[in-house]
Amino acid sequence: MNQPLNYSDNQEPNYIGHKYPIQWSMSRAEKATLIEILNYIKPTVAIEIGTYNGGSLQVLSDHSEKVYAIDITPDHRDSRCDNFENVTYLIGDSKTELPKLIHKIAKNEEIIEFILIDGDHSTEGVLRDLYNVLQIVPKKPVTIILHDSFNPNCRAAMKAFDYNSNPYVNYVELDYVTGAFNHDGLFREMWGGFACIQMQPDKRQVDLVISEYQAKLYKIIYYKSKHFYKKFFGFLKPFYRIFKK
Ligand SMILES: C[S@@+](CC[C@H](N)C(=O)[O-])C[C@H]1O[C@@H](n2cnc3c(N)ncnc32)[C@H](O)[C@@H]1O
Repeated sequence: MNQPLNYSDNQEPNYIGHKYPIQWSMSRAEKATLIEILNYIKPTVAIEIGTYNGGSLQVLSDHSEKVYAIDITPDHRDSRCDNFENVTYLIGDSKTELPKLIHKIAKNEEIIEFILIDGDHSTEGVLRDLYNVLQIVPKKPVTIILHDSFNPNCRAAMKAFDYNSNPYVNYVELDYVTGAFNHDGLFREMWGGFACIQMQPDKRQVDLVISEYQAKLYKIIYYKSKHFYKKFFGFLKPFYRIFKK
């Protein structure tokens, strides 16, 4: 018997994140990982770059004493986010908001323990957020999750960054959670995935090895992706429809 197939996986039972009703732009694996990490760390202070509806923010708020949430616009924020009493919203470009925030946190001797980077997804944007976040001098271990490490533009920034120049970074894994292909019906696009960076208060004594646990999977999919075709065959755009078939 032929059974109908659905490639979008949008009718899942409500196992993961059932406590969190606000629409959330992450995969099941990412949601489960974020909930578990935050439940383990229970951050004193957390920062989120990129709030959108407030999906990931509802989890940060639930597990942290205090959260700073940066977004260039509040327009998409769900009204239920107004109930998060431990969240301070900073509206503006993370390029300017983040350095000011990190300066303020250092001055007030607040203890940052968790950061989610999920704002500007261009290579320059991710590099800039990464650079600014890594200006922190950690008082306690700081865990940094970067969303969309499976997207070629984001991954290019995550790979290009010189982590060895920062003595407090002691762990970098680009495929802490593996991403997805055709995510949310975006044809031949690569999105999702978590990179994970950890900083420690003690300076590192040895060189850092950057890990790309799923590098082979990433490469295989990349050559089938729209990102590859766009980069190398952009001049053939009018004929792109042929590839879609
Ligand atoms: C993918 S959404 C975040 C989703 C959210 N973290 C979640 O999982 O539910 C990206 C957000 O980043 C914001 N953004 C884009 N560029 C930004 C920038 N330069 N500074 C601050 N926020 C930015 C967008 O407005 C958008 O709300």
